[in-house]
Amino acid sequence: MRKTALITGASSGIGREFAKQLAALDYNLVVVARRENLLIDLKRTLSNVRVKTFAKDLTEKNAVEDLIKFLSEEKLQIEVLINNAGFGDYARFDQADIGKLRNMIDLNIKVLTDLMYFISQQMIRRKSGYILNVASTAAFQPGPMMATYFATKHYVLALSQAVAHEWKDEGVVVSALCPGPTMTEFFDQADMTNLKMLKSMKLPSSAEVAKFGLDHMFKKNPVAIHGGMNKFLVFLGRFMSRNLTTKLTANAMKS
Ligand SMILES: NC(=O)c1ccc[n+]([C@@H]2O[C@H](COP(=O)([O-])OP(=O)(O)OC[C@H]3O[C@@H](n4cnc5c(N)ncnc54)[C@H](OP(=O)(O)O)[C@@H]3O)[C@@H](O)[C@H]2O)c1
Repeated sequence: MRKTALITGASSGIGREFAKQLAALDYNLVVVARRENLLIDLKRTLSNVRVKTFAKDLTEKNAVEDLIKFLSEEKLQIEVLINNAGFGDYARFDQADIGKLRNMIDLNIKVLTDLMYFISQQMIRRKSGYILNVASTAAFQPGPMMATYFATKHYVLALSQAVAHEWKDEGVVVSALCPGPTMTEFFDQADMTNLKMLKSMKLPSSAEVAKFGLDHMFKKNPVAIHGGMNKFLVFLGRFMSRNLTTKLTANAMKS
């Protein structure tokens, strides 16, 4: 029987690619995001598998509970959970919109944790399942001008690695995908299209990053850092003080 994958943030960017690639691997899908028209559009392009759309702002009160109820009503057993929905915001901490920061913490941390908790209950009972949490290379150092975003991704990485260890004999895999800058709507959403660093970089496609993430998840690797240069910078960071990596990141984050 065909297995089912659930992807949050499937309406655009890396999430949409996860959906397309998992459909190509013959998974039925549950695709989640706010923009229903884009989810329906995606469903139309994936005629080889069954696709259920769940259009909702996941940060709304009871949104996760509603999604879990939907899965239960539809008798859907999730074999692959891709916790991908997330966003950033470029602003000095005191000048940021506190509503946006709270929303970011809700989506990047709270929703991800809730979904991982509730959906893993069945996986642990079955002793089978895969969870891919989308972190970022931002998980490895503090990020001036995107302080909250970087901190949320530290959380995603630490949670994923610790739980992967707890479940090493449970048959349930947890991986954290750490992409560097990738060509998606992320930069518009985060108000960071003016960043000098981005203008000089050739960014990888969301298809390449999604494939890399799925390959590493299926190989049961707990951490997948995309891109040779990103891997090298994370490695180099181990030999620097936290103060120095903060200064270097601040420099890279200049607009
Ligand atoms: N692009 C990069 O450079 C980069 C680098 C490292 C990590 N990442 C991470 O990769 C993940 C995917 O981002 P992306 O780059 O693909 O950006 P994106 O194209 O902006 O995708 C974000 C996805 O999250 C969904 N989303 C946002 N707010 C939501 C909410 N409240 N409820 C439900 N869904 C919501 C969006 O759909 P709707 O707007 O339709 O809700 C969209 O499908 C994020 O976790 C991001 O932090 C991105």
